[in-house]
Amino acid sequence: MKILVLNGPNLKLLGKREPSIYGKVTLDDILKSVIMRGKALGAKVDVFQSNDEGALVTKIGDAMGVYDGMIINPAAYTHTSVALRDAIQAVKIPCVEVHLSNIHAREDFRHKSLTAGVCVGQISGFGGQSYLLGLEALVEYLMNIGKVGKNRRKD
Ligand code: DQA
Repeated sequence: MKILVLNGPNLKLLGKREPSIYGKVTLDDILKSVIMRGKALGAKVDVFQSNDEGALVTKIGDAMGVYDGMIINPAAYTHTSVALRDAIQAVKIPCVEVHLSNIHAREDFRHKSLTAGVCVGQISGFGGQSYLLGLEALVEYLMNIGKVGKNRRKD
């Protein structure tokens, strides 16, 4: 099983960026723990970060036929990017959206996610742990595809 973990703009600054909201852990530390947990769950995890919307869209397009599942923290693009939403929908790779902070408990403009509606689900508010919870949920989901079907995307 191959999983791609995508990270949007400014997430490279984790650890230094608004630690009262995002904590002191770095993106590298989070991604290392995701790779390790993936190994334990039998999944090969690749990671990618970009501040560039187009680079993220290209990476998602290239994931078709390569990855079984994706985890994405689109960061600020969560709230703005029709292009990312369309890319996730186009490749039809089951995707889990994750956020460090609880976007629903923050400013109004963060309450809306353009991308969550084309994901299997969203995990928000558990810091770096959101990624691990997302990975576990995704692996479980992928293992049950074809058996359950109830929560699968309709397209
Ligand atoms: C974030 C939440 C977004 O609203 C914000 O723009 C980010 C990080 C999070 O992980 O909590 O950059 O995606």
